[in-house]
Amino acid sequence: MPGRVADKVLLIMGGGQTPGETIGNGRATAELLAREGARVLVVDRDLQAAEQTVEAIRSEGGEAAPFAADVTSEEDVQAAIAACLDRYDRIDLLHNNIGASLALGDAPATDLEVEAYDRLYQVNLRGMWLACKHALPHMREQRSGSIVNISSMAARGAYPYVGYKTTKAAVIALTENLAGANAEYNVRANVILPGLMNTPMAVEARVAAGTPRDEVIASRDASVPLGRKMGTGWDIAYASLFLHSDEARFITGITLPVDGGRAVAPK
Ligand SMILES: NC(=O)c1ccc[n+]([C@@H]2O[C@H](COP(=O)([O-])OP(=O)(O)OC[C@H]3O[C@@H](n4cnc5c(N)ncnc54)[C@H](O)[C@@H]3O)[C@@H](O)[C@H]2O)c1
Repeated sequence: MPGRVADKVLLIMGGGQTPGETIGNGRATAELLAREGARVLVVDRDLQAAEQTVEAIRSEGGEAAPFAADVTSEEDVQAAIAACLDRYDRIDLLHNNIGASLALGDAPATDLEVEAYDRLYQVNLRGMWLACKHALPHMREQRSGSIVNISSMAARGAYPYVGYKTTKAAVIALTENLAGANAEYNVRANVILPGLMNTPMAVEARVAAGTPRDEVIASRDASVPLGRKMGTGWDIAYASLFLHSDEARFITGITLPVDGGRAVAPK
């Protein structure tokens, strides 16, 4: 059986993961798309984290390679695009997974430092745009491509900190702009809004900030309507697989919540 993204080349930005007990959104997406036939360039600022993802893919017989790049540097982003073209000759799927809040010094409006604001903007928004800026000319030339950007339900609902909420809201606007401007080239762009996921990125930051792990998990689980349990990296991976596959060939510019019904359930 050919996979759902057989013969596609996936460039994933932030395909490593924060260390922890569960799998992250980016790593799960890289692994799932590789299982479904994609060849994957795993880009991450943390080369070791990218290498671990690559090892997991290769151990299942998939094809992947690691590449070290920091998306706050345009030169690094260009080097990652060039590495993907060098190794695989094309870029079919661009997956922009990188984003953070507390880890970048996020805070409420009156406490947020200018340096932290600028960092949040550079990592969460400018980095996504830079990857699109340099991948799009190749996708346009191929006359095919899929971009999936990872935003957050924080863009829509209540969220205490300014940097994450505003940059994740802007990721939706960025994606709509890309979808509108590139449909004529047969390049699609969609955005996923994860809700509360049981990933190291979400859980470890709160544990490090002083809340016991059990409490972090129990309180997040309790506020999810579907099954009273957070989602996992695999839930984001399956949504990404669909949007990147040809099954979604007529879908562009959409915002897909993956939040276990939290946004629509009575509080
Ligand atoms: N886990 C949740 O509950 C949740 C909820 C909503 C949205 N999200 C979104 O999901 C995405 C992350 O998911 P994850 O579980 O894969 O996170 P993760 O932290 O495990 O993985 C992100 C990877 O990005 C890399 N990275 C960070 N900054 C970078 C930079 N400047 N350049 C290159 N690489 C960089 C990290 O090294 C890490 O390996 C983010 O966009 C986040 O906002 C997560």
